[in-house]
Amino acid sequence: MRIELSSEEAFAVKTDLLAVPLWEGKSYPAELSHIGPPLKGYLTEAWKKQKFSGKEGTILLLPTLGLCPAEHILLVGMGKKGKVEDPVVWRQKADVMVREALRLKAKSAAWVLSDQGEKEKTIAALTEGCLLSAYRFDHYKSDAKKNRKDLLQKVILLGHDFHTLSCRRAQRLGELFAEATCYARDLTNLPAAVVTPDYLGKEAQKIGRAEGLKVRVYTKEALEKLGMGAILGVAQGSVQGPCLIEMGYRPSKPAKRRIALVGKGVTFDSGGLSLKTPQGMEAMKRDMAGGAVVLGVMKVVERLAPAVEVWGYVPASENLPSGSAYKPGDILKTYSGRTVEVLNTDAEGRLLLADALAYACSSKGRQGGDPPDAVIDVATLTGAVRVALGNRVGGILGTDPSLVRALIEAGKRVGEELWELPLFAPYREQLESPVADLKNIGGGGGAGTILAALFLKEFVPAEIPWAHLDIAGVAFTDTPLPCIPRGATGFAVRTLLQYLWDLDKT
Ligand code: BES
Ligand code: ZN
Ligand code: ZN
Repeated sequence: MRIELSSEEAFAVKTDLLAVPLWEGKSYPAELSHIGPPLKGYLTEAWKKQKFSGKEGTILLLPTLGLCPAEHILLVGMGKKGKVEDPVVWRQKADVMVREALRLKAKSAAWVLSDQGEKEKTIAALTEGCLLSAYRFDHYKSDAKKNRKDLLQKVILLGHDFHTLSCRRAQRLGELFAEATCYARDLTNLPAAVVTPDYLGKEAQKIGRAEGLKVRVYTKEALEKLGMGAILGVAQGSVQGPCLIEMGYRPSKPAKRRIALVGKGVTFDSGGLSLKTPQGMEAMKRDMAGGAVVLGVMKVVERLAPAVEVWGYVPASENLPSGSAYKPGDILKTYSGRTVEVLNTDAEGRLLLADALAYACSSKGRQGGDPPDAVIDVATLTGAVRVALGNRVGGILGTDPSLVRALIEAGKRVGEELWELPLFAPYREQLESPVADLKNIGGGGGAGTILAALFLKEFVPAEIPWAHLDIAGVAFTDTPLPCIPRGATGFAVRTLLQYLWDLDKT
């Protein structure tokens, strides 16, 4: 689907569905007042008869019966005026229009922007909302090709002076955010038989070639040389070799900051010998959602071009039981030199991240460059975060309050809610092991998300600000959410892009 900007007169546009936002009010809406007869008479009559008040969450679909070139008019209730400048609202309304257009099998739709608030922000949000809402994962549906021809192919955003450079830039921003998210969704939705660690490595190389990024993929032998005992331990049970992906973006202008992003890339998590239940395993092809977030961000960062150096890391592995699998009681030597006693092979994400975080902060990372100013990891790390926060709010924990605050703020702006949990230090003693430097699970007294984060903290040097996003609750959804069809959500891609974009502006 593509987005077009146009300054054409709304009621002259030929389209299947013309969406008109209406704010709550008793009198005839100003948005409809400039429409000429005979359509005006018809709309006035319909508006009165249906008592359409513009209430939030309501819509009114009207066939135009040949009174104007648009086939249908969709009045979209915006609620009380005032909130309208919030991009989150525009994104939701774009979703309302796209869903209605898909239901009607419309091939094109248009949105009239009469009172648009800050024009550029609104264009970016509507563009992003339409593209995210129209996303489908239908590669494996036999009739997908045929159906796609019937699907929405074009959305026109209509408003005054929409041909300016700043409007086109805003559209571009919305497109890049959506492209990165949809790419991460695709990677996450694809089956584990396709998305192996090797596949992720090849994707990284592909992105590197297309976008001009520096990419290095360490495979098994290289990881052995580096001493990444934790990644190697997790991978031991699988015939698929692990890898660690490193991707770097350097801006052409001087970089204001250097940020490292690390994403958990478990391409299938069976739990290993601490085997999951069949139901617990159902969604585990998606245990690389954090890695997909990092690849999604890296895919567009060069075109977004923030004045920030960005390094992306994805430790990738399968977690399977077999005769060669790592076992409860095994002790792994991590890249940092510290040893970990594995008491539950299903707590594998923190092991992969331990090596990747330590590497991202070490002098070897960034191809010998300076250490990062901040490191952020994204992972489907604990079932506990889903219990605590459900499927609409992600968990965030970190050592630096201003970094955590900036990420929460960025998340709010893009409609990805994050809630901070404490890195409660007294729980740390639960990670003490009698035989190694640490063990990989806590004492079973709850707070699973906090304990996992406390474990990760051990592998980030104290002087480097660090934040951890636990997306296990929000990375996928069984029921459609606003702008998210069922399946992988791509949660955190837009938060991170917004965060990088904000760093450029400060
Ligand atoms: N990949 C899982 C976490 C997960 C659970 C993600 C549900 C998405 C949905 C992770 O590797 C895991 O198994 N964590 C264990 C940790 C436990 C063994 C300490 C968990 O949360 O149960
Ligand atoms: Zn696991
Ligand atoms: Zn896992």
